[in-house]
Amino acid sequence: MAEKIRKGPLAQLGAMAREFVRRGPAETRPLGKFAVGSAKVAHLLESAATGVRAPLPGPQFHAIAQLKRPISASTVQAPEDLPAKAATRSWSSAVDSASEVVGSDQQSKRLVDPKELVGSELSFITDNLARLLESGHPMLNTVSQYYFSASGKHIRPLLVMLMAQATSIATKRQGRTSMLVDSDVDQIDYSLMDRSVSQNIHSDSESQRINQLIENATKNGHGGRPYAPHVKEGLTILPTHRRLAEITEMIHTSSLLHDDVIDHAETRRGLPAIQKTFGNRMAIFAGDFMLARASMALARLRDPEVIEIMASVLSDLVDGEFKQLKNLEDEGAPMAQPDESAFGYYLEKTYLKTGSLIAKSCRSSAILSNSTDDIVEAAYVYGRNLGIAFQLIDDLLDFTVSSAEFGKPVGADLKLGLATAPVLYAWQEHSQLGPLVARKFAGGGDVATAWDLVHASQGLQRTKQLARQYMERAIEALAILPASSARDALEQVTLSVLTRTK
Ligand code: FPP
Ligand code: MG
Repeated sequence: MAEKIRKGPLAQLGAMAREFVRRGPAETRPLGKFAVGSAKVAHLLESAATGVRAPLPGPQFHAIAQLKRPISASTVQAPEDLPAKAATRSWSSAVDSASEVVGSDQQSKRLVDPKELVGSELSFITDNLARLLESGHPMLNTVSQYYFSASGKHIRPLLVMLMAQATSIATKRQGRTSMLVDSDVDQIDYSLMDRSVSQNIHSDSESQRINQLIENATKNGHGGRPYAPHVKEGLTILPTHRRLAEITEMIHTSSLLHDDVIDHAETRRGLPAIQKTFGNRMAIFAGDFMLARASMALARLRDPEVIEIMASVLSDLVDGEFKQLKNLEDEGAPMAQPDESAFGYYLEKTYLKTGSLIAKSCRSSAILSNSTDDIVEAAYVYGRNLGIAFQLIDDLLDFTVSSAEFGKPVGADLKLGLATAPVLYAWQEHSQLGPLVARKFAGGGDVATAWDLVHASQGLQRTKQLARQYMERAIEALAILPASSARDALEQVTLSVLTRTK
């Protein structure tokens, strides 16, 4: 039905007007201005009629398009003054040193403690996750909550909540699109997000029991006030944002439960890895169970666009893992030295395995705030660039920090046969790395040789410089959002990624 409407005259008018506006200079002429206005009207009508959100060329269209241009990773140079190893510990000192990197205008900004700004919303998360994962099986409860017992960084839920606050004061989309998204948040019955979508789920006693189990567990969650918006400094986190943050953490942790089995991990978050304690079968069951509960919670947000976006993260994660397994070896003849396409492959994998979840949960957070398209797109571009920077630093830390600091073994990527950015850059300087990469460091002494060549090259500094470029793009995307303490906090989280040590 929606498809039929989209192909009608309204949709054609919208598409034509958008194309017209996209040509850029038209915006400065009277006719161009008229076209911009018409495009916006057509777009609004089209979206309202079809429920489909087409990209709108607004004033931020060109800025966003600029931020989406690829970065030429293979030619990134190391600045002279950058130490290869970051020694910063706390987020505030990380912010100070990272601020020096991006310029003095950062100093004039108010320092906001991101965790303080979202307040109790983040501190309840471990407790809420336990409720969402209540299974009725003590063993399954223990295994699925095992990684939550360690102090995780909770960076993904933090970003979702800060993005909720930052977009709560941004421009709103016209027209109601789902039961739990509206301009008038006081009119929404948020308890729906803990009730089943389908009436038929009660049609047999087993389903009824499971449903009751979840309803009972979630009913009294969140300090006994589960369905109220959290308002601080005039910025709002809705109950739906909080649930999205929980879903994001469940998807992330589920992927780690699988990943640790695949990677034969020894430790995680300072604990023995899940499968070391409970075995492979339990680890996989717990990961699948967590994904199932995350999917149920996602459906109960009752927003088809958010469901689709977050579901696409799951296939991105698997796609990223496949690309990582395949690595460069199958890409035709062995390369003499890594070219831009080798870096492109690595960065695409990096987006899929790490960037996608961060980018799409930020996008979904903006959608749940009922934001306009340019705000939603800015949230996505922010998360995408931050996510890639985050993984680049992860790949760098694998060569620089101690296992005790990192909470997981270092040097793990080489042992797994992976050529990450530090290796690709080192390979540009030391061509003898080529055969080692091709055989995935499986020869005797390969791992040690590769490790030494990375440290003897500018690989670590150049990786950090590449991460810095993505970080700067993330900060530029934030400029599209209205100024607020949440936007400042997002900026600070972004800066601290560059100097993190765990
Ligand atoms: C950690 O990478 C792993 C990921 C970011 C994604 C793993 C994804 C899957 C296993 C696909 C299946 C997904 C789901 C949702 C079931 P890493 O090994 O580089 O990092 P690490 O050092 O923390 O282990
Ligand atoms: Mg791993």
